Amino acid sequence: MYILAPSLLAADFGNLRAQVEEARLGGAQWLHLDVMDGAFVPSISFGMPLIASLRKQSELFFDVHMMVEDPGRYVEDIRKAGADMITVHQEACKHLDRVVNQIKATGAKAGVALNPATPIHTLDCVLDQLDMVLVMSVNPGFGGQKFIPYTLEKVRALRQLCNERGLQTDIQVDGGVNRETIRPLLEAGANVLVAGSAVFGEKTRENAAYFMEILKEFEAR
Ligand code: DX5
Ligand code: ZN
Repeated sequence: MYILAPSLLAADFGNLRAQVEEARLGGAQWLHLDVMDGAFVPSISFGMPLIASLRKQSELFFDVHMMVEDPGRYVEDIRKAGADMITVHQEACKHLDRVVNQIKATGAKAGVALNPATPIHTLDCVLDQLDMVLVMSVNPGFGGQKFIPYTLEKVRALRQLCNERGLQTDIQVDGGVNRETIRPLLEAGANVLVAGSAVFGEKTRENAAYFMEILKEFEAR
C-alpha cells in the first residue's frame, strides 16, 4: 500500500482545517504531525492541544512524528490526543524496546525514526515489532530542506532486510520529498511518503493529487 502523508508543518497555521481538507481532497490518506521540543531538534512546533483539536475535524490517519527527547514521557498523552501512529527517534530513546511496547500498549501503531547518520542495523533487534521505520532524508528540525542523497541507499538496504525477514513493514521517508525525489524513493522501496513544502501552499489539492497519481502507478505494478 502506497501512502501520501502531507506534513502539517508546511501548512498555513491560521487556516489549518481548510488546509487539511484540501490535502484530503487531493487523495492524501495520512496527516503527518511533527512534534518538536526545542531539545532533540532546535525548533519548537506544536503538541497535544493542536492534535486534539484537529482530531475533532478530520478522520485522516494521524501519523505523529515525535522529535522529542525521552518521548516515552508523552506516549499516552499523544495517543489520547488522537494519534493513530506514534513514531519516536531511535536516538532519543535510552530504552527503545520499552518505548515501542509502551506505544503498542496504547493501541497505536509503532514507528521508529532514524536520523540520516544513524545506521539501519541499530534496529536489528526491534525491527520485527515495528509497524513502520521512518528513514529521515534530512536532518530533522525544519521543513523545506534539501534531500540527502545517501539516504536512498538506506531505504534500499532496509527494504531488502525486511524482505529477507518476511516483514511487510512500512518504510516512510521524510524530508526533501518532491517531484524529483519521489520516484527514486519509491524505486528504492519506500511506501509512505511525507511531503511538507511540496504539498501545502496555494495548490495543496493539486499537489497532493500529483503525488497520488505516482503512488497509484506504483500500486498497479
Ligand atoms: C522535518 C520534519 C518533516 C518536514 C518535511 O524535521 O520531520 O516532516 O515537515 O518538510 P519538507 O517536505 O518540506 O522537507
Ligand atoms: Zn516529520
